[in-house]
Amino acid sequence: MKTTVMRVERFNAAHRLYRKDWSDEQNRKVFGLCANPNYHGHNYKLTVKVTGEIDAETGYVIDLGWLSNLVNNEVLEKFDHQNLNLDTKEFSNLNPTAENIAGVIYDLLRPHLDKKFDLQILLAETDRNIVQFPA
Ligand code: NI
Repeated sequence: MKTTVMRVERFNAAHRLYRKDWSDEQNRKVFGLCANPNYHGHNYKLTVKVTGEIDAETGYVIDLGWLSNLVNNEVLEKFDHQNLNLDTKEFSNLNPTAENIAGVIYDLLRPHLDKKFDLQILLAETDRNIVQFPA
């Protein structure tokens, strides 16, 4: 039977949701306060879910210490305490919505995980707004 293990990490980052090709009015209409020109921050809660078989020798699906190091090296060092729009190449041309951030995090982590594992990213931008990728 497959089992899912999860590692929770947190990071803080600033962003602004907007499209350069839209007017200020259109951006404000669609993105609301998140379109404020001077940016704002979120305390993101990132849950990395790995699904696989339990290893008969170790009793682990995957070593969560190893997974924590991976997330720190590949994700938190890039995004923690950064302005996502201004400071990261990943979002220089990609609107940093929670949906897009979750997809980018998936792409950063997936190449480092053995193919035998399934990976899923949960990203909570607030207590009430949570994204899961892949669905
Ligand atoms: Ni926001």
